[in-house]
Amino acid sequence: MMHGLQNLIGELEQDCSLNEPDRLRQRIDALDRLDAYLDGQLDGPLPAIITQSIAPEIYPRAKALYVRLEQANSELYQTIRLEIQRSAERYELLQRLASQSNQSDNTTSPTVGEGYDYLDELVSGVLQFEEPSTDIAQLPAEMVFYQPTPARHIFDLIHRVALTERDVLIDLGSGMGHVPLLAAICTSARSIGIELEAAYVDCARQSAQALNLNNVAFIQQDARTADLSTGTVFYLYTPFIGMILRTVLDSLRREAATRPIRICTFGPCTAIIAEEPWLEAVGPLETHRLAIFRSRN
Ligand SMILES: C[S@@+](CC[C@H](N)C(=O)[O-])C[C@H]1O[C@@H](n2cnc3c(N)ncnc32)[C@H](O)[C@@H]1O
Repeated sequence: MMHGLQNLIGELEQDCSLNEPDRLRQRIDALDRLDAYLDGQLDGPLPAIITQSIAPEIYPRAKALYVRLEQANSELYQTIRLEIQRSAERYELLQRLASQSNQSDNTTSPTVGEGYDYLDELVSGVLQFEEPSTDIAQLPAEMVFYQPTPARHIFDLIHRVALTERDVLIDLGSGMGHVPLLAAICTSARSIGIELEAAYVDCARQSAQALNLNNVAFIQQDARTADLSTGTVFYLYTPFIGMILRTVLDSLRREAATRPIRICTFGPCTAIIAEEPWLEAVGPLETHRLAIFRSRN
């Protein structure tokens, strides 16, 4: 263990490129590798099991490296937040970093699957949610608990749907608001999040306000009774199932009778929504990837 950690520290100390803002992905990878040795114990005294296997001079070097890498990440998040707040080319850096996920040298496609990666760290560093200030209420049956869409799928949505200033994106069951917030940052469309849990709505509103975003709104409401009349694109990350999903799909079908709409889905609800005769898939339906449907004429 000690030799492995020593070699890793030597390698990382020599790699000056890790300080460059755009090397976020490599920094997060380096932090993960350090964590694997130190078991995430860089604050306070190390547990005996780790001190026995690490030479005393190694630990301060590991800690200094860790602090330097985290500092570089914080500076990057702050730079992006300032760009967003000033709304000057506010999404350029965010999009450049997001596009790195498509240049993966991994063998698996980066857009597939429900796991989280460095882009989720980037997004939480930029959106900086406060912890919910009140307890989260238990959800009734058929309503799905909160879990955010992995960030790479949100960037995939933004890229594939090509939202314009004429679009209104409505996230049904928006949780803390990752999807409407990122859409508001990265596009000229208006975004709305509809979420039952008031504590999540508060967090989303605070994040939007701190970033000076004026093209996004969050409404605390049951999606079954929400006004869907302004939406052109709807997003569902399996927020509900069964009769609740049926009711909301019926509302969306009525909206589609008045104008063309698109529906983006992620997770198990995709298979159910794919059966709706008034919708057609845009492109192939791939498991574990975001799906896009449009209403038939
Ligand atoms: C799987 S999470 C998706 C969160 C968010 N859309 C995202 O992708 O990051 C589902 C969310 O839907 C909310 N939800 C469940 N039933 C709802 C309903 N009937 N009306 C509004 N929100 C609901 C839950 O509180 C939860 O935050």
